[in-house]
Amino acid sequence: MDTASIDALIGLARETVGTAVDAAALANAKARFLGRDGELTRRMKDLGKATPEERAALGKRLNEVKQAIESFVVAREAELARALLETRLAQEAIDVTLPGRGSARGGLHPITLTIERVEAIFRSIGFDVADGPEIEEDFYNFTALNTPENHPARSMHDTFYVEGGLLLRTHTSPMQIRYARMHQPPIRVIAPGKTYRVDSDATHSPMFHQVEGLWVEENISLTDLKNVYADFVHRFFERDDIDVRFRPSYFPFTEPSAEIDMRFADGPLAGRWLEVCGAGQVHPSVIRNIGLDPERYTGFAFGSGVERLAMLRYGVGDLRLFYENDLRFLQQFAG
Ligand code: DAH
Repeated sequence: MDTASIDALIGLARETVGTAVDAAALANAKARFLGRDGELTRRMKDLGKATPEERAALGKRLNEVKQAIESFVVAREAELARALLETRLAQEAIDVTLPGRGSARGGLHPITLTIERVEAIFRSIGFDVADGPEIEEDFYNFTALNTPENHPARSMHDTFYVEGGLLLRTHTSPMQIRYARMHQPPIRVIAPGKTYRVDSDATHSPMFHQVEGLWVEENISLTDLKNVYADFVHRFFERDDIDVRFRPSYFPFTEPSAEIDMRFADGPLAGRWLEVCGAGQVHPSVIRNIGLDPERYTGFAFGSGVERLAMLRYGVGDLRLFYENDLRFLQQFAG
């Protein structure tokens, strides 16, 4: 084995190892020289064939070559690692001069905004705000509201029934009973929330919102209802030029009962009577069902559709827009 071929081997190893493009290529290059069948390994195995005189010098030389090749490998490893790190840093670099993406700002849903507005107005005149179950007992939804089983008025509601004799409340009126049974007069409360009926088209959704109102005290009459509701309407729409009228109606839990209509003096809906509320004087049976004496206590109750109020206030023509979660729609309400 001549010195020239050993020098050539070093040159070849430096070249091969030094140009390995990645970790896999480097491992191959290393194996090519230092592996079990590697070029250097083979030469070391051949040492036995050398004469004893040659062997010492040649062995020393081959060891040096081995160390040299190992150092090429270590050096190349470091180079590749550095290059990899540099590429990664370059790729992950943040260009602080680029315009920012901005963070999308959330906003309250128009129905939530409407409920909050109704709450604020009624709180300001001394009403409490109450919350109650959407899965309701038949008793609170109907019976206690003077609508016993087989009462024809039950067919006014297309009820979703749930297992166990429960139902999805068809109106927020059950909150009249729940709240009044837990409080002493004067009882002044509104109860906004979700309600459910088997109904679905452009003006009906199977889930919708109502806000119930109840005021029970001595000497509370329909005059008070008219004042309170008219005041509410003016503040809710932030306009004084709204007429309010009562139209006779029927609800089992009020007597007399009325439908409250309102009319804008101008704007796109000017001149049209718009129904916004069912209401009436609380029926003596209901007063009795909440544990009070109807000879002493009277009161009024009302129930308004929240979507209806929101549609009128914001000029929304289709109820379904409230439930589609189209950001282009919802963004218009973000404050
Ligand atoms: N609960 C009625 C409905 O869903 C609305 C209503 C009418 C509520 C008269 C009342 C009331 O409190 O007194 O249609």
